[in-house]
Amino acid sequence: MIGPPVAPASMLAEIARRAGTPVYVYNAARIAERYAAFTAAFTGYPHRVHYALKANSTLAVVRLVRALGGGVDANSGGEIDVALRAGFAPRDIVFTGVGKTPDELARAVELDIHTINAESLGEIERIDRLAGARGQCARVALRVNPDVAAGAHPHISTGRLTHKFGVPIAAAAGICRRAMTLSGVRLAGLHVHIGSQLASSAPIRDALVPVVALAADLLAAGCPLQHVDVGGGLGISYDGSDEPSVTEYARTVIDAVRPTGLQVIAEPGRWIVGPAGALVASVVDVKEREGGGRFVVLDAGMSELLRPALYGAFHRLEPLEPRPGPQIACDVVGPICETSDVVGAERLMPVPEVGDFIAIHDTGAYGAVMASNYNRHPLPAEVLIERDGWRFIRRRQTVDDMVALEN
Ligand code: LLP
Repeated sequence: MIGPPVAPASMLAEIARRAGTPVYVYNAARIAERYAAFTAAFTGYPHRVHYALKANSTLAVVRLVRALGGGVDANSGGEIDVALRAGFAPRDIVFTGVGKTPDELARAVELDIHTINAESLGEIERIDRLAGARGQCARVALRVNPDVAAGAHPHISTGRLTHKFGVPIAAAAGICRRAMTLSGVRLAGLHVHIGSQLASSAPIRDALVPVVALAADLLAAGCPLQHVDVGGGLGISYDGSDEPSVTEYARTVIDAVRPTGLQVIAEPGRWIVGPAGALVASVVDVKEREGGGRFVVLDAGMSELLRPALYGAFHRLEPLEPRPGPQIACDVVGPICETSDVVGAERLMPVPEVGDFIAIHDTGAYGAVMASNYNRHPLPAEVLIERDGWRFIRRRQTVDDMVALEN
């Protein structure tokens, strides 16, 4: 079942008229509802929700998440700074990332953030030196790669040994024991994230088996572990089919971790914000397509929303103007000079007219954050619907903004 839309078609069209297109529209109430549902699913077991900023880190969205409680998962120094600007305390931030720079690590240590999710023994030793030099002890979690196929798109699967993420499960025990001898770090947790847009909880269950066994061994060896960070990854429905159950996901995680008594940290991104956003674009051209059908060209494409071109991702398209006429197969495409710039192929719809608006749904996660200036497209405006109204939370980039850093 698909949740309520970001806004009725008439409201999306009104926003597009007033804000211009392309425009990302988010619904604050939807984000709040989904956040509440996610945390509610873990009720009764010690847990912390650390929203994955990479999904959508526009300041107003991050502030909204802060008001809902919990913490964040940052993937770079930039995301740490955005979290701080949005009012999160350092102790609300976990820092994950396969390639943390020396400056980023030093900052994380200095801020004394909640936990640094470390990706290698080398990184743990660097953290130890940085913290030791300051007379501090940094909390780290070792990111473990459990060698589990997540079933997600290959570009966003992260849990096989051939992937760059974490340390192989077989090497983890030795690395943890080494970490336990260092005075500048405290091994506070184990971390695992096997992929994104997971359609079921089964891969999480499989991934947690060796992680929980390792946690139990470490606890028995006197390691002061406090949590198991299960990463993010719970998928959403992009096509209107059933959404994976958050209740089942939470039950799977809790059942796996409970024998250790450790707290669960979860890092959901897409599940919280994905369905709460839509990208509204305008039709700028319509033309006949070889073999029948039409090309419907939008003013938004892979520079505004990369997912279809990068992953072959499907997003529901909703023409916002009712047009009479038969349903015709339309290739809805962007204006970028690449054949891969297809927003949706073979979509049945009455042929739209130039100037019509089309909503591209479920783009609240990994939409605006992955936009680029390719073909010198300005970054789109973003608006947030709150209560009965809406407001700009990011104005449209101008050409002046775009060239501001250039000589
Ligand atoms: N934690 C870690 C360590 C992650 O790497 C990720 C996502 C998350 C949490 C949040 O995962 P989520 O709950 O959102 O699935 N650009 C891709 C998705 C890349 C996800 C990368 N890591 C897309 O558009 O599908």
